[in-house]
Amino acid sequence: MDVEKIKADFPILKRKINGKKLVYLDSAATSQKPVQVISAIKEYYENRNANVSRSVHKLGEEATEAYENARKTVAKLINANSEKEIIFVRNATEGINLVAYSYFLPVAQAGGKIISTVMEHHSNIVPWQFINSMGIDLKFVGVTKDFGLDMENLNKIISAGTKLVTITHASNVLGTINDINQVSKIAHDNGSLFMVDAAQSVPHMPVDVQKLDCDFLVFSGHKMLGPTGIGVLYAKEEHLENMKPFNYGGDMIKEVGLEKTAFNDVPWKFEAGTPNIAGAIGLKAAVDYLNRIGFNSIRKHETKLTKYSLGEFSKLDNVETYGPSDATKRGCVISFNIKNVHPHDAASLLDRQGIAIRSGHACAQPLMEWLGAKAVARASGYIYNDKNDIDALVGGIEKVKRMFGV
Ligand SMILES: Cc1ncc(COP(=O)(O)O)c(C=O)c1O
Repeated sequence: MDVEKIKADFPILKRKINGKKLVYLDSAATSQKPVQVISAIKEYYENRNANVSRSVHKLGEEATEAYENARKTVAKLINANSEKEIIFVRNATEGINLVAYSYFLPVAQAGGKIISTVMEHHSNIVPWQFINSMGIDLKFVGVTKDFGLDMENLNKIISAGTKLVTITHASNVLGTINDINQVSKIAHDNGSLFMVDAAQSVPHMPVDVQKLDCDFLVFSGHKMLGPTGIGVLYAKEEHLENMKPFNYGGDMIKEVGLEKTAFNDVPWKFEAGTPNIAGAIGLKAAVDYLNRIGFNSIRKHETKLTKYSLGEFSKLDNVETYGPSDATKRGCVISFNIKNVHPHDAASLLDRQGIAIRSGHACAQPLMEWLGAKAVARASGYIYNDKNDIDALVGGIEKVKRMFGV
């Protein structure tokens, strides 16, 4: 992978922040966008802008074709059986909500159990608390000392009445990559459905929904070079056929009478109103860009960068990192705390040096409680990061430490 060449595709990386060259290490929050993605969106608005699935004019046909091509590209990316299994949503959060509202809300009063984990982003906790308030039991799998999922705990709490097991593929705080196949087997052996929050995995590694054997999977376009406002829910076609619509209105219908409406076929049954056409086109350009590099190469590059980062962090006194020590078992997300320095102070001082990282609870407060940390600083890498960025970060942390006398 030629990182220098990749960097050159990202206009924002030429920016100076506080007089310093930008070192962007916050891709777990959102990634930067290459010129190829920005151009695809611009080209659509300049040359093909029209609504989809409504107009018989040329522009309408072209816009519809581009939108549906994006669906095909996404289906191929995750090896879905057909593009019917791809629903465009706003983001991973909306994908999880769609499953909660459309599949589980109607059956909530019948009881049963949903199992999530302590390692989840709030997006994979809060929607289930809502469903829980409607009658389904909600349980959480714990985390082990080496930052993995407690499989013994899962085996203990799962039972015949479990309706859903939903876990993150890769933790946005610990970097941990969970053994999806192991969890999938346990879920299915117990008659449960299985959902994967792939917000932190699809951008970084090959993901195959058939190999993972999941019923539902969600991710966001903006974390994988795409624009904000476009995300994906993958669901097995049989589930989509049986699920109620999420939103009601135009585009999701076949025929409307004043008393009764026949809903559209999947996937359009779940895409009420004018969709994010430009977003889908931008996402396609992003997937094309990542495919050109190759997801195996991306994973290899990030594993190398993680290994290097963990090595450099281990040389820093009074800096605690969280997550597996083996780079092959995790993503390039390094959460840390500097002794006696609040993560917001660390992040602000790094920002003065042009280094952008995240600080706070990283939308994972239950995990923070488990870690015994109110907050963390988090550096996260992607295809455009290299050792120089990690050296800048580590040098920056040393500076922060000196300022605080740590
Ligand atoms: C693991 C994980 N799940 C879900 C989300 C939610 O993504 P979005 O805000 O794009 O819906 C995030 C975002 O950080 C995440 O890291």
